[in-house]
Amino acid sequence: MCGIVAYVGPKDAAPILLEGLQRLEYRGYDSAGVVVSNRGLKMRKVKGRVADLAAVVPARFKGTLGIGHTRWATHGAPSDVNAHPHLSADERIAVVHNGIIENADELRAKLEADGAVFLSETDTEVLAHLIARTVEDAESLAEAVRAALKRVVGTYGVAVIDAQRPGEVVVARNGSPIVLGIGEKEMFAASDVAALVRYTRQVVHLEDGELAVLKADGFNTFSSDARETAKEPLTVDWEAGHYDTGGYEHYLLKEISEQPETVARTLRGRLDDRFHIAHLGGLNMDARESRSFRRVKIIGCGSAYYSGQIGAQLIEELARIPSDAEPASEFRYRSPVVEPDTLYVAISQSGETYDTLAAVQELKRKGGRVLGIVNTVGSAIAREVDGGVYLHAGPEVSVASTKAFTSTAVAFALLALHLGRVRDLSPADGRRVVQGLRALPGQIEEILTLEPRIKELAGKYADSPSMMFVGRVRGYPVAREGAQKLKEVSYVHAEAYPASELKHGPLALIGPEMPTVAIVPDDELLDKNLTTLGEIRARGGRVLMVGHREADPRLADDCLVVPRNEIELDPILLSIPLQLFAYHAAVALGRDVDKPRNLAKSVTVE
Ligand code: AGP
Repeated sequence: MCGIVAYVGPKDAAPILLEGLQRLEYRGYDSAGVVVSNRGLKMRKVKGRVADLAAVVPARFKGTLGIGHTRWATHGAPSDVNAHPHLSADERIAVVHNGIIENADELRAKLEADGAVFLSETDTEVLAHLIARTVEDAESLAEAVRAALKRVVGTYGVAVIDAQRPGEVVVARNGSPIVLGIGEKEMFAASDVAALVRYTRQVVHLEDGELAVLKADGFNTFSSDARETAKEPLTVDWEAGHYDTGGYEHYLLKEISEQPETVARTLRGRLDDRFHIAHLGGLNMDARESRSFRRVKIIGCGSAYYSGQIGAQLIEELARIPSDAEPASEFRYRSPVVEPDTLYVAISQSGETYDTLAAVQELKRKGGRVLGIVNTVGSAIAREVDGGVYLHAGPEVSVASTKAFTSTAVAFALLALHLGRVRDLSPADGRRVVQGLRALPGQIEEILTLEPRIKELAGKYADSPSMMFVGRVRGYPVAREGAQKLKEVSYVHAEAYPASELKHGPLALIGPEMPTVAIVPDDELLDKNLTTLGEIRARGGRVLMVGHREADPRLADDCLVVPRNEIELDPILLSIPLQLFAYHAAVALGRDVDKPRNLAKSVTVE
């Protein structure tokens, strides 16, 4: 939610800031702004996209130090005035902020009583006023920023510049990510390495409560009580090219198409054909410990939660450990009972989702053992957990998650295999699962060849006012994720139900105007699923069946046949046609595919 970029060095800051903001636009895209320092502060900000901002930044917008922001509104509607940066009244201080200042109203009232005049409705503007009040007498900008942040309740990633100290940027983090980028006689900071990798691969992640002072020749980091902290730079292996569309029309299609490779990367080096086990060194657990858990509880948000439902099913089936998944956003608020014999697994592509991070922190406070299944190396959740599995799926830019979803399900299959083989999963079943996993990339390639047919079907169904998605047991999370994808990128209303529940209420919705996408794998529930299709057709409902065989035309209007794997792994493959279906429905309806309205990729607010 919201992207921040900062630069100090010998070059012109504006092009670097604009390029960085473009890379961070997935985090929020309702308004954008930049400010540079050059004998005073020069600022441009607009409602709209980074491209709209670039169009109003003049060629002579010179300055070798600056900060920029792309916004996802929380306080105040998207507008030029509410766009960041925010300046102090004397235009000496400029601030960009990601997060929410919960006591902003109270601080604002006090500042107004003291004569401050606010221009925007944002919570952020209080910070500019607070810093400006102490900066004159403070020994450093860092001291003034620290004093202001002490008065703030809430979350922030901030970057601050002072017109009278044109050689430094101060950044600080509490709940919203800030990464420093170390260049040659230049320093960068951003909400995400995406904005940095074009310039440097050497990065430092700030911890909550830390503040950093950036100058062209280096940086210093400090704890909240102003003690200097020692930070070791990390080298990131994601490259600038990973953030390009690679010739595809949209990131979403690129990321769907990458899945043979991304699934292969999640599996690489982790399958053992001799003992039919999974090598997951990052779990930091020996076999005895892996055997000790009596329950598995999986938490994540949105699509991460749905992939967790697939994971729970896999662990229960392969390892025979009672497992379930729950939205992290709910889990964290219900004072969960945390038990020593439960293994907790937190899922997050970004590793920054605040609800998931807060749930992990709550678990850790209560002594829970938490693993992470995370894509972004070094992210907040990855650093908070006791161990875990990195997806290695590469950066996911499109707001709608696809390759991270499948890689998470694959990571769960590996975890289930591991937990199963230290328990009662036989070597023969282990071999079956290992072979099934090895077959996935090739089978995904085969599914991708169905794209022209899926495009045609998406065109046929896209003008439906609403769609039903149904699946039973293993198929149910697939249906939920299919409905989620369609909703978020095409804005077509979609409901997902267990096929078994249809007759307990939602069948009342079924008619010619509400088609159903039915997930019908060739498993032990095939007959039950076919009966459900008959019930839908008997009520005049149209059916698009996604399964392993051509459907009887009396039961389905259309059918997408995908290759069969092991029944436990089939949900991974069955999800992929639904991604393409949502993508082509969105394109047919002329939607903003990669940046759907009202959404942002990393949800770093509560
Ligand atoms: C997926 O298409 C969504 N945009 C969203 O549900 C996402 O999966 C969720 O916000 C969790 O994100 P995370 O994996 O980065 O934690």
